[in-house]
Amino acid sequence: MASPFVVFLLMFAVPCSAIGVWPQPRYMSWPVHWATSLSPSFTITSPRHPYLSPAVARYLQLIKTEAYYPLTDLTVNLTNGPPLQALIVTVKDLAAPLSHGVNESYSLSIPTSSDKATLSAETAWGAMRGLETFSQLIWGKPSRVAAGVEVSDWPIYAYRGIMLDTSRNFYEVEDILRTIGAMSANKLNVFHWHITDAQSFPIVLPSEPDLAAKGSYGSGMQYSPANISRIVEYGLQHGVRILPEIDAPG
Ligand SMILES: *[C@@H]1O[C@H](CO)[C@@H](O)[C@H](O)[C@H]1NC(C)=O
Ligand SMILES: *[C@@H]1O[C@H](CO)[C@@H](O)[C@H](O)[C@H]1NC(C)=O
Ligand SMILES: *[C@@H]1O[C@H](CO)[C@@H](O)[C@H](O)[C@H]1NC(C)=O
Repeated sequence: MASPFVVFLLMFAVPCSAIGVWPQPRYMSWPVHWATSLSPSFTITSPRHPYLSPAVARYLQLIKTEAYYPLTDLTVNLTNGPPLQALIVTVKDLAAPLSHGVNESYSLSIPTSSDKATLSAETAWGAMRGLETFSQLIWGKPSRVAAGVEVSDWPIYAYRGIMLDTSRNFYEVEDILRTIGAMSANKLNVFHWHITDAQSFPIVLPSEPDLAAKGSYGSGMQYSPANISRIVEYGLQHGVRILPEIDAPG
């Protein structure tokens, strides 16, 4: 007899046939399942921006190296059109900082009759969300790209985050970076970093060095100013704001 768990899986596995952009965009249209190929010289152009530019480079690398296969067969019709040569990214307000409530809306269009797709966003942060969506519309080797697709998306919640407590347990810098990367793939935007508490004080404050020296679990379990800068920069390159919480011990 099937366990309730198996029955649960079957109920939800059957209807998922097409491509599953996650999280589901507010509006996505792909009326006929057209696909085109990705040109070997495919590129992404975008305005220069300290955090968007590294994100563009990262997504280009991901798109060119990842051969993702959807869990269920994807039946598509190949267009007679040219392979996709470029994604053109435009941003209205390049100066908008990654603050609470910043506009993260974007529109993505992958036509069937052109070798260029377009992504337009209000801010660099919205452009990053659009790049994530675009990357999820590419699969296989050689790569196919869904075509005849229109996406218009914006978040329901301005604050989409997780909280990590590094006081009860120390987490390596690399683990925090990996977590931020996973957040960005899920379009989350706030990393609430509960850095310290009564249990330990891992953050090295140059003005009060004794707090970490005496309050951390050990010299290998501290966050240096360089570690913190790296995490904050990495967050910005992924559209994830680092929200630090420093509790005066206990
Ligand atoms: C492929 O094209 C045929 C003919 O136009 C159409 O009937 C079919 O639904 C299309 N398949 C998909 C997956 O869109
Ligand atoms: C974001 O910008 C779009 C396009 O200009 C606009 O329609 C929308 O209302 C804005 N959203 C927010 C949260 O400001
Ligand atoms: C954390 O900071 C220390 C001291 O600045 C440095 O030696 C170490 O490489 C950093 N770790 C990471 C993962 O960046």
